[in-house]
Amino acid sequence: ELYNFRLIRPDTKVYGIIGKPVGHSKSPLLFNAAFKSVGLNAVYLHFLVDDVEKFFKTYSAVDFASGCSCTIPHKEVALKCMDEIDPIAKKIGAINNIVRRPDGTLTAFNTDYIGAISAIEDGLRGLNGATPATASPLAGKLFVVLGAGGAGKSLAYGAAQKGARVVVANRTFERAKELAEKVGGKALTLEEVQNFHPEEGMVLANTTSVGMKPKIDETPLAKHALKHYCLAFDAIYTPKDTRLLKEARETGAVIVYGTEMLIRQGFEQYKNFTGLPGMTRNSKQITGNIIF
Ligand code: ATR
Repeated sequence: ELYNFRLIRPDTKVYGIIGKPVGHSKSPLLFNAAFKSVGLNAVYLHFLVDDVEKFFKTYSAVDFASGCSCTIPHKEVALKCMDEIDPIAKKIGAINNIVRRPDGTLTAFNTDYIGAISAIEDGLRGLNGATPATASPLAGKLFVVLGAGGAGKSLAYGAAQKGARVVVANRTFERAKELAEKVGGKALTLEEVQNFHPEEGMVLANTTSVGMKPKIDETPLAKHALKHYCLAFDAIYTPKDTRLLKEARETGAVIVYGTEMLIRQGFEQYKNFTGLPGMTRNSKQITGNIIF
């Protein structure tokens, strides 16, 4: 059962996910379970939306509306309807989390990059042990992003903001070049990155779809290249353990799963929605049965 209709009252806050299609989204399961666990008078629905601008006009005008998540194909169009946008989300050019303030204004965030970058930072902290929580272990690192699509942009901007030196490698070199220029980094082709190792201990983030189900025997970076990386992250989560991550593990790198990004981006949305400190690892009972 997604939510209990009998508990919905005139003052119940209404959240939701907008998309087209949207029925497959597991977000309502996650957020309704989270709201229930802290006794919040709130409900989270699927919103099948065609005309994004019309939706936000209505949504900002009704007091029960409190915030929504945004998925394909609306992550970019929705930007135009916001009153305020988080600076990095603006640079990335995509939002996935919208908060409606009590005065009706809409503020947007991109929690995808926060989820991925924080997972990678924690992976590196485990490696270095002593990094103070305030300093980013990404500062000064050579950070190689494979792919230059939506996820590639999120990772490249996020890493650059943390002081990493960013390299973008992409099948279509022009897209790599464009993104690299924007984040003050270097561009490579997918062929060039196979033999790119100016130093040891680099950080790798795959955002291409190479290795995704059903083509699970593919990998975007050959195994011989992986020994120059201290950490490998894969944004793919079907399968959870991609060939890239398996081979990186065999080479001795720390690995960070795409599911970690998925969980953490949801936790960030929850924090923005509720103003509560957020779900933690203790929320396993919430995420445990649901998505991952
Ligand atoms: P997302 O929003 O998930 O990042 P996207 O914007 O469609 O999705 O981007 C997909 C990325 O995977 C792109 O970097 C794409 O490379 P191109 O820019 O050359 O299209 C990359 N990609 C997809 N299929 C690929 C393949 N078979 N080999 C190499 N790269 C591939």
